[in-house]
Amino acid sequence: MSFKQPLLRFGALVSLCSSAALAVDVYSPKYFHLGPEPTIDGLQAYDGNSITLDEANSVLTLDYASEVGGWPWVEFESPSSPVQIQLKYSEPYDGLALPQGDGPWLYCNGLMNSFRTETFNITDSGKTQSFFLQGGLRWQSITLIGNTPITIRNIGLKPSVSVSNPESLPGSFSTSKEMYEQVWSLGARAVQAACVDARSQPSTWEMSDEGALIRGQYPAVSALATIFANYTLEFSTKITAGGTGWRVAGGANGGYGAYFVLTSNKEGLTSTNITSLPENSLVAGYGFTLIDQAILASAPSQTYDISTTIEEDKWYSIKTMINATGYSISVDDQEIAFVSNTNFASYVDGTWGSGSLTEGNFGFAPYLNQEAYYKDVKVTAQNGTVIYQNPLTSTDILQEYAIASNEYAVCLDGAKRDREIWIGDFAHTGRIIAASSGRYDYVKSMIEFEFDWQYPPGPAYGLVPIQAYMGAGAEYREVYYPSEFGETDYQFFFLLVLTDYFSLTGDKDLLMKNWDGVKLLVQTLVDRYYDPASGLMASADASWFTAQGSQNATAPTALFAVALNQLVEVAAALGDSGTGATWSQLSTNITTAINDSLWNEALGAYSLSLTQPDDTAILATAFTIRAGMASSDRVASSIARISDVFLSIGYKDNSVTANSATTQLSPNTQGFLFESLFLAHIKYNVSADVVVPAIQNLSEVFWPKMVTQNEYYTGASWEYLYADGSPGIGVFTSLSHPWGGAPTYIFSNYILGVRTEWNAQAKSYEWVFAPAWDIAEGLGLEWAKGKVPLSTGGYIEAEWNVFTKGAKPTMSAQVVGNSNVKINMKERS
Ligand SMILES: *[C@@H]1O[C@H](CO)[C@@H](O)[C@H](O)[C@H]1NC(C)=O
Ligand SMILES: *[C@@H]1O[C@H](CO)[C@@H](O)[C@H](O)[C@H]1NC(C)=O
Ligand SMILES: *[C@@H]1O[C@H](CO)[C@@H](O)[C@H](O)[C@H]1NC(C)=O
Ligand SMILES: *[C@@H]1O[C@H](CO)[C@@H](O)[C@H](O)[C@H]1NC(C)=O
Ligand SMILES: *[C@@H]1O[C@H](CO)[C@@H](O)[C@H](O)[C@H]1NC(C)=O
Ligand SMILES: *[C@@H]1O[C@H](CO)[C@@H](O)[C@H](O)[C@H]1NC(C)=O
Ligand SMILES: *[C@@H]1O[C@H](CO)[C@@H](O)[C@H](O)[C@H]1NC(C)=O
Ligand SMILES: *[C@@H]1O[C@H](CO)[C@@H](O)[C@H](O)[C@H]1NC(C)=O
Ligand SMILES: *[C@@H]1O[C@H](CO)[C@@H](O)[C@H](O)[C@H]1NC(C)=O
Ligand SMILES: *[C@@H]1O[C@H](CO)[C@@H](O)[C@H](O)[C@H]1NC(C)=O
Repeated sequence: MSFKQPLLRFGALVSLCSSAALAVDVYSPKYFHLGPEPTIDGLQAYDGNSITLDEANSVLTLDYASEVGGWPWVEFESPSSPVQIQLKYSEPYDGLALPQGDGPWLYCNGLMNSFRTETFNITDSGKTQSFFLQGGLRWQSITLIGNTPITIRNIGLKPSVSVSNPESLPGSFSTSKEMYEQVWSLGARAVQAACVDARSQPSTWEMSDEGALIRGQYPAVSALATIFANYTLEFSTKITAGGTGWRVAGGANGGYGAYFVLTSNKEGLTSTNITSLPENSLVAGYGFTLIDQAILASAPSQTYDISTTIEEDKWYSIKTMINATGYSISVDDQEIAFVSNTNFASYVDGTWGSGSLTEGNFGFAPYLNQEAYYKDVKVTAQNGTVIYQNPLTSTDILQEYAIASNEYAVCLDGAKRDREIWIGDFAHTGRIIAASSGRYDYVKSMIEFEFDWQYPPGPAYGLVPIQAYMGAGAEYREVYYPSEFGETDYQFFFLLVLTDYFSLTGDKDLLMKNWDGVKLLVQTLVDRYYDPASGLMASADASWFTAQGSQNATAPTALFAVALNQLVEVAAALGDSGTGATWSQLSTNITTAINDSLWNEALGAYSLSLTQPDDTAILATAFTIRAGMASSDRVASSIARISDVFLSIGYKDNSVTANSATTQLSPNTQGFLFESLFLAHIKYNVSADVVVPAIQNLSEVFWPKMVTQNEYYTGASWEYLYADGSPGIGVFTSLSHPWGGAPTYIFSNYILGVRTEWNAQAKSYEWVFAPAWDIAEGLGLEWAKGKVPLSTGGYIEAEWNVFTKGAKPTMSAQVVGNSNVKINMKERS
């Protein structure tokens, strides 16, 4: 191995944008079409000229060309009389054909519009901007309701996130096959659309002395009320548009449960083909809201005529009394309806909701296009004790209701959905950021967020949140345990996030500051989930995402070993050899247990779990390779078995999963498999011939599905795919999901070849430039070049060329704008 002295160049210091100012002022549509209905064909370039909607041409289709997010606005010319227009948003084109767009979704409102449609009432010229942001979309439509023509002068989105074109990012990658660059940019776009700056996502409630002004959205629920049961809820409300709404007996996961909407005597804004609410009535439903979305069932809503007149701009006091058979609703102390809970019973769901018709929290929000004030909330228990009271006038309550503006810069799992801080997803996200946007400040902030929330003594002692809401507060975290701890191994992924971050940044300060927290987390995981009988990770109290819930499984146990191995290196770098030795022994112990009990010689692969010895799983293969526990022979043999789970375009999670039209292929799990194929070659000497076919399938067949289909394309990576290449949860699928973007860092790390590696002698990580030559050659790649941003400023710029097949390639690399970083070049031997 020869080491070439890197060429150092000191360019102007490159600012890696840690400031909160967004790089983009406006997202403008790139294409449009005006006609009687939405269309994807024959779009014209949008040049900002005026467009008139009339009865014959009532639908304007807008295409932003790729994923963007922000506050939609439209600038109008004054219409001859008030005109209603309905706006609709979607990531895939087919969402425009659905009455409700591609929403709504599950969980909380995610500090965005809970709905994908909204109606504006235009009376004058000027700009009308939505109160709510839309987290992610490519498509929009504007539909004229009625027949009064209206002219649009301009349209766009005020950005809530900075999504720059891949060319303007500090990181880049290209190679002789053009598709690789497009696949690389999927993750690069997704991390920009799904990561939000601190305080950039405002609260969806507006607090004032008059009470909380709440526009139509999912009801936000009180964290203090999760344990309430059989109570009476009272509050005052003043409708300012259309109606008012509230929830009782909701669950901790954003508040799925009974939902009531009381409409005013005025005709509200029109929403074509979405649950319409008659004037002056009570509408009762059960679910997240009243809309029945494809995979999100809601009880069909029931409408009750009421004998009083509900006026707008007038305060009413509303009382809801829960009993065993239903909900008695009173207005100003007159019962207006008794809503029987019989029709709701089959929608009770312990995962989303409280699992009961009489227990769970309460919350407030009117329905779509409505708006109302709320104040003076009082809750009384069955025995007459007042158990909750709040005037609802102070911003202090926003975290209690999980709708405060985000305190931390965080990355959500998806731009449009679920908009939660899923720490397991972030194992890919953090590394994509490091290879593309260079926003290491997000990674650091996510780590700080997790430790800020790490659980104090109590039932969840030592654990970190796996799916926190960005609008919630650490002070209320107990409420979210155990309902939001469904994926035990996300705790392991957090350990990866932490140690991957350290390997990329060498940030000892952050690790030292949280070192006690790290040790507590590891100890908690051992105490709670390590089974001494099997030597594997198993506990009745645990659910393993990486093994579809199976206990004593290879993948989660090996994942823990990967995390421990990386922690041993971090401990060495920090000089804590005692802790390092304990972790090293623990890793050896669980590695031995996997080796002894989960290798199936006849299968030629590690088994899915003790109870599924004859099944293979791609994460069992991926994590045993990354953990370094298998011999080269075992690695090669288990890789040979992955073609067993190949279905049409990609790899199923395991051999248990049947083949069908709705089998989901996960870019998240395949992302881990993908890296392990490179590691198999680089670290375990597995011949390139063994890994190239699978690498080729992933690079040239599977991921390109996210690039080549215009109707689904967002320029970002997806959540799931079906075997026919379409989005794997239909319109519900997040089409800007960083967990599906692993090729971004994999191409930069292994094809370009710039990555960090542990240097045991120096007890630190170093940057290397060491392409996986044989794999690159096997893939038919002739050259690659790119940039990798550095956490301390500047970037590494590298390039290689193979002039003649089999000949020694030329390599060049330089560190630009950072005099502290050296790069260790490894030439092809
Ligand atoms: C639209 O605005 C006009 C003028 O303010 C008003 O008269 C009308 O009631 C509004 N329509 C709805 C449905 O709110
Ligand atoms: C809306 O409903 C009308 C009347 O039922 C129907 O003709 C139309 O096709 C529906 N539109 C959509 C987008 O579903
Ligand atoms: C619940 O309340 C309703 C109306 O207030 C009443 O008719 C019904 O009997 C009550 N059910 C129970 C089980 O108390
Ligand atoms: C609430 O009332 C229901 C129905 O009467 C009863 O089954 C349940 O035990 C009560 N819950 C609590 C916590 O009192
Ligand atoms: C009344 O019920 C509440 C809520 O269940 C409970 O906290 C409180 O101790 C009870 N008070 C009395 C006097 O029983
Ligand atoms: C894990 O395997 C051990 C040994 O076979 C067994 O005793 C234990 O019950 C298993 N754990 C779970 C949660 O299934
Ligand atoms: C590893 O296994 C050895 C032998 O069974 C045991 O003595 C030791 O305590 C274990 N170490 C850890 C950290 O689990
Ligand atoms: C696991 O088994 C392999 C043999 O395939 C061996 O090389 C390796 O050292 C074993 N590791 C442990 C920790 O037992
Ligand atoms: C690659 O994809 C082809 C189908 O295009 C499939 O037949 C083959 O088994 C896959 N190879 C591997 C190693 O999975
Ligand atoms: C891979 O090959 C290198 C050099 O030939 C050797 O030093 C190393 O030990 C091998 N690694 C494994 C895991 O077999």
